[in-house]
Amino acid sequence: MRKVIAGNWKMHHGPSAAVDFLSRFRPAVQEGSVRIALFPPALSLASARRAAAAAIEIGAQHIHWERSGAFTGELSAEMAGEVGATLALIGHSERRHLFGETDAEVARKVRAAIRAELTPVVCVGELLEERRAGRLDEVLARQVGTVTEALATASDFMVAYEPVWAIGTGETATPEDATAAHRLVRSALGELGGAPVLYGGSVNPANAGALLFAPDVDGVLVGGASLDPIGFGNIVETGVGG
Ligand code: 13P
Repeated sequence: MRKVIAGNWKMHHGPSAAVDFLSRFRPAVQEGSVRIALFPPALSLASARRAAAAAIEIGAQHIHWERSGAFTGELSAEMAGEVGATLALIGHSERRHLFGETDAEVARKVRAAIRAELTPVVCVGELLEERRAGRLDEVLARQVGTVTEALATASDFMVAYEPVWAIGTGETATPEDATAAHRLVRSALGELGGAPVLYGGSVNPANAGALLFAPDVDGVLVGGASLDPIGFGNIVETGVGG
């Protein structure tokens, strides 16, 4: 399977910074050898799509489950698709924990992404206290279990395992931890378990190789280290080289 190298810019890189990033990142792209996806802020989706090489997929960080309506501040999967998004991140831990997104809402958003022909990238992961309490298995089974019925209707989807304690902390899961968690995700996916499962949480150019080529890891979802076109390009090259 081609490795997936995805960058989640979170609330960084407005429209002009997105174009600047892509003018510097494009030379690193080797068409077809890895699957590259970028998730810019909603306001930068259109300019990122225009500036990106065709081989780079662009996705929304967040969508609402309705097509349109009185939902101030939200955007629909269809609107994201109209400006060139072909994927959507769903259930990122910052959405779950800072903005109170529930498993039920995550499942509705997965259905909305599929309705709009966007590839859902569903994020799952445990809190440190859940891991310490030996509840990793239960948490992943619950988070994945609420979306499997919806995902069964998708022609393409991915799951990103992002342990909450490793996001933005500089502390990564070991490759062994990532492999063990990815196996739990696959087992919770059941017959859908052949889908790509990405690891996210403090991935950087120095640790990307060990994580990317750990058993059962199909790619990485990079936050902070995806903001720099050179560093992100190095991670892409690591994926190509393996
Ligand atoms: P960091 O790479 O900054 O830890 O963020 C990971 C993440 O949340 C990607 O979605």
